[in-house]
Amino acid sequence: MKVAPVFEASDHRWWIVYDQDEQRVIDSNVYVIESRGEAMLLDPGGFEIFPQVFAALSEIVAPSKIKAAFVSHQDPDIASSLPLWNACNPKIQWYVPKLWEGFIRHYGALDATLTDIPDEGMDIVLGGRRLDFVPAHYLHSSANFHVYDPEAKVYFSGDVGAALLPPGHGAWVERREDATAAGDKAFAEHIEHGAKYFHQRWMPSERAKKNWIGRVRKLSIDYLCPQHGAIYSQEHVQRFLDWFDALPVGSAAE
Ligand SMILES: [Fe+2]
Ligand SMILES: [Fe+2]
Repeated sequence: MKVAPVFEASDHRWWIVYDQDEQRVIDSNVYVIESRGEAMLLDPGGFEIFPQVFAALSEIVAPSKIKAAFVSHQDPDIASSLPLWNACNPKIQWYVPKLWEGFIRHYGALDATLTDIPDEGMDIVLGGRRLDFVPAHYLHSSANFHVYDPEAKVYFSGDVGAALLPPGHGAWVERREDATAAGDKAFAEHIEHGAKYFHQRWMPSERAKKNWIGRVRKLSIDYLCPQHGAIYSQEHVQRFLDWFDALPVGSAAE
């Protein structure tokens, strides 16, 4: 896997670990925040890709500096690496949706320290900076959260914004960050090639989608970071929200 910076400002950084080598499992991204020497993993990934993620991460953050890990929902591509991370660093504080805690325990590591995220969300402090765990229920999991960093203006959106891209893909939706026709074209190509089917098929609730879009539009977001696919920057964030708003979701083959 590769590592790329998402946001950098002295002692405050975000990275993406992306484009996994193992093609038999769904391609997934892992994000890392470092704030004043304290690190947090966001959706640390599946059991199968743990060795790749661990090797890539070790280039940027010492595993002993990882203080916390955030789990957006219960899926195996999100959290099945939990027992392996716990074996490497048992001091990691795990934040998991309250509704899913007893299910996530099935991955193992019964001694891991899990903190429940209540349905209404919560804030934590990492290296002196506030991070918000934003409710995003039914997008797609029934208890599901995102992470907003108001200082960096980075929003981790879990499976929202996801795209199923071919091996060798980049970390970013082509960076045409201007509000021009070329930017529209780059965005449309990304959606058509990887994101449209994912949202139509995995997102179950029109009502939850509208509710989430209304709340997220009030935030100032420079980078919208999904757990599959590529990052939406600047104008692409608005393009994504407009597109998702208009997309009918919540039905399988009819
Ligand atoms: Fe998922
Ligand atoms: Fe996922």
